[in-house]
Amino acid sequence: MNWKTLLMIGLILTAFTATSVLAIDGGNSRKGKPLFKRNCKSCHNAGGEGGEVTPMSKTMAQWDRYFKKKAKKHPGDVIKNLSKKDLKDINQFLFDKAADSPSPETCG
Ligand code: HEC
Repeated sequence: MNWKTLLMIGLILTAFTATSVLAIDGGNSRKGKPLFKRNCKSCHNAGGEGGEVTPMSKTMAQWDRYFKKKAKKHPGDVIKNLSKKDLKDINQFLFDKAADSPSPETCG
């Protein structure tokens, strides 16, 4: 196998992974749900200071983009104070229940 073949395989694998079901590796949706409720819901309920945010507020792609880029600019220290792992779990939960996911959830 020459390097071009290897590169092709690499590209195909990358494309496949990017569009497969898992948002980010290592995220645990089941842990993410209580984390989201505990850390986010206080401000993100209807009438809360951050406005209502539920998994269904965004699509799967939007959630991944949010956590990749915008989460750093979230007001206050909530996001900064969470561990990378907890954030991954929250990201995974929101992704799995996103508006265009197979099982959208409003999350009470
Ligand atoms: C201390 C209150 C507070 C907490 C806790 C909090 N947020 Fe926020 N959040 C805000 C505020 C304020 C905004 C800005 C709202 C705006 O610009 O309209 C915001 C904005 C957001 C937005 C953008 C909303 C949009 O329409 O795109 C998202 C997504 C978000 N927060 C997610 C989270 C997540 C996930 C957590 C938990 C890890 C969290 N927030 C915890 C106050 C909070």
